[in-house]
Amino acid sequence: RYPSYTGSPELREAIAGYYARRFGVALDPNREVLPLIGSKEGLAHVLMALVGDGDLVLVPDPGYPTYRMGTYLADGVFETVPLRPELGFLPDLDAIPEETYRRAVAFWVNYPNNPTGATAPREFYARLVDLAHRYNFVVLSDNPYADITFDGYRAPSFLETPGAKEVGVEFNSLSKTYNMAGGRVGMAGG
Ligand SMILES: Cc1ncc(COP(=O)(O)O)c(C=O)c1O
Repeated sequence: RYPSYTGSPELREAIAGYYARRFGVALDPNREVLPLIGSKEGLAHVLMALVGDGDLVLVPDPGYPTYRMGTYLADGVFETVPLRPELGFLPDLDAIPEETYRRAVAFWVNYPNNPTGATAPREFYARLVDLAHRYNFVVLSDNPYADITFDGYRAPSFLETPGAKEVGVEFNSLSKTYNMAGGRVGMAGG
């Protein structure tokens, strides 16, 4: 059958359970978890909730195209933030002008990263949460590759960062971890 718009309680509880076990992040299954028809659905739709006419969204370059497409569909504008090898393919948070931070309503991040394969240290997320609080933008963390890591490395969730839930949302997916891209099961948490 079609599920309800908020997904079945069992699925929401399973998602909250995964976030608790895997990341130590407490999500209320009734208020802080939303199942999605694949995470891409949420990546596009979240911008309709956040972005109005001409609002600025910061997107990584290179980056998954839906961050930009969702911005177009919401009548927003985007600026690209370069990911350079010298900085481990992290955005240079110090190089972004203060005026840009003030105008931004949302900032996309995606680690482990597609297409570079880069990962983000916890300090990077802490810095970003701090900036989001200071300049009042929303951090949108796209984290479908959290469990596709190697050599003992365990990727964190952005939501592990103190204060993250107040300023951000994380998207995740069964597409990569469980190799079930055709099943279209994703989630938003935060
Ligand atoms: C970075 C990134 N985000 C999101 C997705 C979307 O995944 P899905 O909609 O299957 O959950 C993909 C798929 O390739 C991706 O590479």
